[in-house]
Amino acid sequence: MKVKSNGGNRPRIVEWIDARLPVFTYLQREYGEFPMPRNVNYLWSLGAIASVFFAILMVTGIFLAMHYTAHKDLAFDSVERIMRDVNWGWLLRYMHMNGASFFFAAVYIHLLRGLYYGSYKAPRELLWIFGVVLLLCMMASAFLGYVLPWGQMSYWAATVITNLFSAIPLVGDMLVSWILGGYSVDNPTLTRFYALHYLMAFVIAAVIGLHVIALHIVRSNNPLGIEPKSADETVPFHPYLTAKDGFAIVVALIAFSLFTFFAPNMLGETVNYVPANPLQTPPHIVPEWYFWPFYAILRAVPNLWIIDAKLGGVIAMGASILVLFFVPWLDTSPVRSARFRPIYRGFFWVLIAAIVALGWAGSRPPEGAALWVAKAATLYYFAHFLVVLPLLGRREKTLPLPASISAAIKSGAA
Ligand code: HEM
Repeated sequence: MKVKSNGGNRPRIVEWIDARLPVFTYLQREYGEFPMPRNVNYLWSLGAIASVFFAILMVTGIFLAMHYTAHKDLAFDSVERIMRDVNWGWLLRYMHMNGASFFFAAVYIHLLRGLYYGSYKAPRELLWIFGVVLLLCMMASAFLGYVLPWGQMSYWAATVITNLFSAIPLVGDMLVSWILGGYSVDNPTLTRFYALHYLMAFVIAAVIGLHVIALHIVRSNNPLGIEPKSADETVPFHPYLTAKDGFAIVVALIAFSLFTFFAPNMLGETVNYVPANPLQTPPHIVPEWYFWPFYAILRAVPNLWIIDAKLGGVIAMGASILVLFFVPWLDTSPVRSARFRPIYRGFFWVLIAAIVALGWAGSRPPEGAALWVAKAATLYYFAHFLVVLPLLGRREKTLPLPASISAAIKSGAA
């Protein structure tokens, strides 16, 4: 059979495979030559960094699963065994624990970058929506995984969070026992959470695939928020972005190593080194840091008319993520990047302050100043998306956009 050459001097085996399954041509087009705006900054490396932490979670998770026992009487001890007896087990576990924190940190910055530069605006709405789906999947996976070591916080976090479903009128209680596999958090809960935690990894991998395919259709936005007009306003992904992302990944991995080797438990809860005890509630039930802002929203809502505080909190917490799905349509401004939206830029930083305040409030008991801060920051969080974005977009006087990326580079504005 005559094999059609694709040009260049590729090894014959590559030609042979490519004629039958054009993976190399595809890689060349979608990775090697993929045109990236030449003015992207390091915030555009966060997607690659998030992907690396996801890969670390997958690999370490598979090895942890080889030694973990999903049974309520053995789970805690099996994790301790991993830490003490399994060769490099402590490293696997610390990488998995801290990898989750770094994965969330990377994705949060990635998401905020999108909000700042208007990367969700047409034609990137679907790309953004896949991102929000990823966030939901990550949260589900992190919650399920946190239950597995069967420590005090695992047990009580599972109890508190699954109990939230009981706030749903009519079907709530039925739903809770259906999720738990019984009337309280017990062995059936642990085994199903383990199965689902493992499954979620593959769901996330698939959605990352869709996210990146969508990205490759519409291509990357850039800090100016204007599309490249000609080929000289872009550079091929390889070697330019390979080198740039590679450098950013190394810096992120250094930070990750500092935590993993020198402060492996800093981001976790000491109470989770005590085995689960259904008869003793810890004094202060608190989730991992990446859930603090949402936990604050959950507890910030008071009794409102016929909606009691519990149901109101559940609705508010769910809405705080669901609202992100609608951001492409809530933001009415024709200009993408906050660089040319001076008033929006101010509001963006207020949003960041509100999220930080929510994080602080979520880490503390819901009383006194923490409760008031949580209420005020929750109000701003929703006002930002539901009031500021739609109204400001119509009224704000934006700065003049540069004629092109090249023009901005030449004038020093890029
Ligand atoms: C598992 C988590 C995620 C992974 C692995 C991931 C991966 C990536 C990668 C590799 C890119 C291209 C490089 C870059 O622009 O940084 C990208 C772009 C993008 N992602 Fe994500 N992403 C994740 C979650 C999210 C979330 C939660 C959102 C927002 C809700 C989001 C929104 C976007 C947008 C809007 C772009 C295009 C940005 C632009 O070109 O300006 N992603 N993502």
